[in-house]
Amino acid sequence: MLKTHTCGELRAEHVGQEVTLAGWVNRRRDHGGLVFIVLRDRWGLTQIVAGADIAAEAHRTAESVRGEYVIQVRGIVRARPAEQVNPDWPTGEIEVEAHEIRILNTAKTPPFYIYEDSPVDEALRLRYRYLDLRRTRMQRNLILRHKVVKFMRDYLSARGFLEIETPYLFKSTPEGARDYLVPSRVHPGKFYALPQSPQQLKQLLMVAGYERYFQIARCFRDEDLRGDRQPEFTQLDLEMSFVERDDVLDLTEGLYTAMVRSVAPEKKIITPFPRMTYAEALERFGTDKPDLRFGMELVDLTALLAESGFGVFSRAAKAGGQIKAIVAPGCADYSRRQIDELTALAKAEGAKGLVTLAYRAEGVKGPAAKYLSVEEVAAIADRTGASTGDLVCIVADEAAIVGAALSALRLHFRDVLNLADPDLLAFGFVVDFPMFEWDEETQRWNAAHHPFTMPRPNDYASMAADPAAVASEAYDLVCNGYELASGSIRIHDPRIQTDVFRILGYEEEEAKARFGHMMEAFSYGAPPHGGIAPGVDRTVMLLAGEKTIREVIAFPKTTKAEDLMAHAPSEVSEEQLRELHLRIVLDEEEAA
Ligand code: AMO
Repeated sequence: MLKTHTCGELRAEHVGQEVTLAGWVNRRRDHGGLVFIVLRDRWGLTQIVAGADIAAEAHRTAESVRGEYVIQVRGIVRARPAEQVNPDWPTGEIEVEAHEIRILNTAKTPPFYIYEDSPVDEALRLRYRYLDLRRTRMQRNLILRHKVVKFMRDYLSARGFLEIETPYLFKSTPEGARDYLVPSRVHPGKFYALPQSPQQLKQLLMVAGYERYFQIARCFRDEDLRGDRQPEFTQLDLEMSFVERDDVLDLTEGLYTAMVRSVAPEKKIITPFPRMTYAEALERFGTDKPDLRFGMELVDLTALLAESGFGVFSRAAKAGGQIKAIVAPGCADYSRRQIDELTALAKAEGAKGLVTLAYRAEGVKGPAAKYLSVEEVAAIADRTGASTGDLVCIVADEAAIVGAALSALRLHFRDVLNLADPDLLAFGFVVDFPMFEWDEETQRWNAAHHPFTMPRPNDYASMAADPAAVASEAYDLVCNGYELASGSIRIHDPRIQTDVFRILGYEEEEAKARFGHMMEAFSYGAPPHGGIAPGVDRTVMLLAGEKTIREVIAFPKTTKAEDLMAHAPSEVSEEQLRELHLRIVLDEEEAA
């Protein structure tokens, strides 16, 4: 080794020892006769002192080094004078007096400071990711990520799970996104699909009798990206045989509880994790991934206002919609501009508008207040619990829009009013998701989770007659407003699977072409089974207190799915295209 110790290791007890350190020049201060170098490696920082009267040659070298040079220092550990002890550093009691300094490599001036976590434009960080990764924040996040993944592996291994790898070059596994396709050279005109998840493969491992499987699995999805979505991301994918829903949920709760306590003990959690149905989550929070750290629940005013003289309310109720409200405490003095901002948020979710009632000492204010009777204003206050100083926000529309709009407003108030404790991880399970969703565009039913999810036994009989009413054995783990994991009990009976495919509009031939291997496998003794897949990136993001998963991925892509460092995606040679039997056809706009 080119070093005897790390830069995070030396303490007062090492004083007097000869050591060799190696790392990067974090900072350098030249005080004439003395040069101070802060040397950095993965483990920490150590102060180096080079002086003309300690070793003239080393001093000269120290004068010539610059930030991010890679150097090796041989010297003697000495105690820092009392007034120079740095209590913020684990190595703050000592410094190393340099007897010999070797420059192992020089460095250009970096495009941003490495030694301080000042804000830097993200595109620049991604362009020079290897420099960004040198900074404390990214290092802390990647170390945390390592701990999370190691904890998952240890926890599951101790409970009889086997880690088994599954292929990347596979067949389309539908999870609701577009596939990334890989053209085959050997089979002209044919493609592999990168798995959107190992869903089918883990089920086949259950058929194969492994009973408890997990994998830290990379998944690939060509979908619109956001802060919590990447085109390739990592799941803790797991599957169990001979289990019921609560077995999977209990295992997940046990894992997350123990993991947070072990890797992020500063975070607070509430156990047991609350479990609520999908219907209850929508009713109370307007979303299936509620932030449970604070109240501000939705209040249903439909019955109260269905007959209102105010057309916005009565029309929505008559059309089968809902009228619901949330109360923003202390916001009755919101300005016109602030109300416009709230209205824009509601409209972005499809609402036609937002009714606000400011309960002020001098009376109720708001553009719609004049259309409401005194009794209605009082009844709204009574039902919502609003008192003087509060702002009531009401949306009247079809249920999905009411939920989405009020949920967005609830999160807005969370942020502006600091309603959520940043140190709390409020986990919860949402269960009994619907089995099918109607897709207006294609005019067909989609699987709400995926096509292998078991319908609730009580709903199966009426499935064909009324797909919308069927609940499934699907569940999510949510935390602080994010969907952290999804899973389900699976169909293991080929007949039920065929019925589900039929509702999804796959006629027998198509179902066979796409999923024939699954159907066939299931005819050879498939055990009852189920599983779940927590997103590793989202988990680490929440544990690290970050706002996007890009901060917890070493080499993430931009929201346009680009790698700014290596410039991917990129063009390939004519030769490669020919080998793959591909021809690129761009329309005019694309060509420009
Ligand atoms: P699902 O598609 O819900 O379920 O994904 C499970 C979890 O994976 C994470 N996730 C993502 N993370 C980052 N970027 C993305 N683009 C992305 N998409 C999903 C989320 C999500 O909760 N096979 C099923 C699981 C199962 O049924 O066992 C599946 O993949 O945290």
